[in-house]
Amino acid sequence: MVRLKTAVLISGRGSNLQALIDACAAPEFPAHIALVLSNRADAQGLARAAKAKIPTRVVPHGEYQTRAAFDAALGRALAEAGVEFVCLAGFMRVLGSEFVNAWRDKLINIHPSLLPEFPGLDTHARALAAGAKQHGCTVHFVRAEVDSGPAIVQAAVRVLPGDTADGLAARVLKAEHQAYPLALRLCAEGRARVVGDRVEIDGKPGPLRFEPVP
Ligand code: GRF
Repeated sequence: MVRLKTAVLISGRGSNLQALIDACAAPEFPAHIALVLSNRADAQGLARAAKAKIPTRVVPHGEYQTRAAFDAALGRALAEAGVEFVCLAGFMRVLGSEFVNAWRDKLINIHPSLLPEFPGLDTHARALAAGAKQHGCTVHFVRAEVDSGPAIVQAAVRVLPGDTADGLAARVLKAEHQAYPLALRLCAEGRARVVGDRVEIDGKPGPLRFEPVP
């Protein structure tokens, strides 16, 4: 089996990276993590990658004068590793349109809300403040506009009476750890395809919506 050579870009904790590492450990999983790249040397996720014997690179954004220069350095690191596909997993830098367009339909992100609801930060507190009945996560193809782009997989989580932002975030995070490997699998198997401004899964209109295991 040819496995899709994937990079995971992180900035911090790396729990979604861990979910992808664990999924890729299965011999039949159709993707392989060839590189973990962080813009921060202190990202906890780098230790997770090292433990799994995955090559790591740090590209510190502060060393570049412009976003374009930083993006170009990222692109070089990806090319040097022979990467074919990129997963953003808690990567906290906005990528410029040139980079995004160069990786069009080969660049995915996980976001902690049911997009298009609650793009941006503090999604859990905002969902509670808005009185949302359900919340969740989305894995989507990246487009130049932040937190937009065709959704591949969504997992919904019920908002419970008395929920706090932290409690809700923890339940959504568990769903994220199921959603991201599923989305990467669908992409690597060629089952998730962008058609117009949507994703089709096995030729049917997406996104794939699934019930996360609590
Ligand atoms: C996750 O909630 C993800 O959805 C968001 O950033 C967080 C990263 O967490 N984009 P982790 O680093 O994967 O633990």
